[in-house]
Amino acid sequence: MSGRSELRFPENFVWGAATAAYQIEGAVREDGRGPSIWDTFSRTPGKVFQGHTGDVACDHYHRYADDVALMAELGLRTYRFSIAWPRIQPDGTGPVNPRGLDFYDRLVDALLSRGIDPFVTLYHWDLPQALQDRGGWTNRETAEHFADYAVAVHGRLGDRVRTWTTLNEPWCSAYLGYGNGMHAPGEQDAGAAFRAVHHLLLGHGLATRALRAAGVATLGITLNPADVQPADAGSEADAAAVRLVDGLQNRIFLDPLTGAGYPDDVLAQVARHVEPTFVRAGDEKIIAAPIDLLGVNYYSPTYVAGRVGGAGGSAYPGTAGVVEFLPPVGPLTEMGWSIEPAGLTRLLERIGADYPGLPLMITENGGAFPDKTGAEDPDATGRVADTDRVAYLDGHLRAVHRAIARGVDVRGYLVWSLLDNFEWAEGYRKRFGIVHVDYLTQRRTPKESARWYQEVISRNGL
Ligand code: FCB
Repeated sequence: MSGRSELRFPENFVWGAATAAYQIEGAVREDGRGPSIWDTFSRTPGKVFQGHTGDVACDHYHRYADDVALMAELGLRTYRFSIAWPRIQPDGTGPVNPRGLDFYDRLVDALLSRGIDPFVTLYHWDLPQALQDRGGWTNRETAEHFADYAVAVHGRLGDRVRTWTTLNEPWCSAYLGYGNGMHAPGEQDAGAAFRAVHHLLLGHGLATRALRAAGVATLGITLNPADVQPADAGSEADAAAVRLVDGLQNRIFLDPLTGAGYPDDVLAQVARHVEPTFVRAGDEKIIAAPIDLLGVNYYSPTYVAGRVGGAGGSAYPGTAGVVEFLPPVGPLTEMGWSIEPAGLTRLLERIGADYPGLPLMITENGGAFPDKTGAEDPDATGRVADTDRVAYLDGHLRAVHRAIARGVDVRGYLVWSLLDNFEWAEGYRKRFGIVHVDYLTQRRTPKESARWYQEVISRNGL
């Protein structure tokens, strides 16, 4: 942007975009797909904005070839997408449904034919409903089933897909799915949330072991680690609040994944809600299976204060009465999330320092911005002048660059998202895409951010 210095990213820096199956595919009853917890949840009155569902979404299931052509036009080098488990195993276990695999087979071939590297996420929240009927992630068996499913997908795509990640943001699956009920399956039980954390991590570990045995070269997991900051840097109470929230969101995942096991202070928190007998001998060793890549999803920082009687956060068990989450301060995105690129630099530096030797990749970053002004809908000339989004992405890319310059090993950046899509509990009203989707006609219109990003990629910099 004018007046700012030119920045170049490292050679081989990976540029791309990300999506997730339930958010874009539609075709929920086609080719043998079984129901997922998001089909059930979105049909439960009051759970998703105006009862929106993923039934049609961006109809990507039928339009994938055009979407891949669009990716190629934008110059994307990598495309991160997720596989819908209920397409592969409609009941979550047992024989695979070849027609489900056929879809991803076609998608991968389309990507490769355009020179785009497929980046697979095995689980982006759409658990087969049949597994939820048996407890979902609170049931240890789900972890074992997940490993079987991973092997089945690899069996079909492993000859062409080089980069595999197991889970997307298990924090959300556990704490929003089982803790505060804002996401599917909508349970509200802190103990269940912690059981889910462990079984998600165990599932990751078992799948990692199985995929390694099957010969996968590049393997990882994507988290949404938080940049947790104190309201007052000099306050001891605020520092204690930071430690508590950091434990619940960051260390509970990162420590066991990197071989340190669950931290004692975190286990003590867990034990206030549920006896952690579900952590069995040997589990932490499985979870610590080496990974090649940690995916980092970042949108906004988290500011907390230690305060007696504080409201706490519904997604953070044990914070009520002791922690106050500060309301976000402007500028804000349409999600109400504050825009603070410096948080991304801090977060990357922190992970780099505390968990050294782990290559990082930004697997999601982006912003929803309002369409009330008309700026999000194509104007008479077909333009979508999303200058807010361009500024957001520019600021965050500079933040990534700063972290790299300070020695953090960041391998790439994938924008969230390629397309406007089903934003979970928010339905279609929040638009994150660099490509506009008209949900009535399914017409795609690259926004100005898409053209800007195309330029960034082609210059490998800003
Ligand atoms: C992340 C999710 C992704 C999308 C963005 C906005 O938590 O992984 O699917 O909804 O938030």
